[in-house]
Amino acid sequence: MVQIRPAAAQELKRLLHRHTTQGSRPSPQIYLTLEPGGCADWTYRLTADIAPQRSLTTLPCGDISLAVPSDQVDLVQDLTIDYAEDLMGGGFRFINPLAQRTCGCGNAFALSADTPVTQDCTAAHLPTP
Ligand code: FES
Repeated sequence: MVQIRPAAAQELKRLLHRHTTQGSRPSPQIYLTLEPGGCADWTYRLTADIAPQRSLTTLPCGDISLAVPSDQVDLVQDLTIDYAEDLMGGGFRFINPLAQRTCGCGNAFALSADTPVTQDCTAAHLPTP
């Protein structure tokens, strides 16, 4: 079961409210997707505006529902989502017991302890000599 901590729920509701007031969608939804690659095997993506073009499963998390691609539900089944502010600004934090390794910022994870992960997005995108 995905758990959303109070700070994350507050931020997600703020995002939903912003989309509702902008009138961009009649019934806003939070989408949680995993994109392959990036700084590890998978990178989390939370959005309220771009629906993935795939079959979705809705996961109730308290008074918020997350729409997750059906083929990724197993990868987030015990995920905890938090939100925190630090010197670099605010951001969602993901705690996934399936993650064997996590990148430097915590937005990407690997399912195997042998998979290389990056500790710095900047380094991940430097051209190789
Ligand atoms: S996604 Fe690049 S360091 Fe976390």
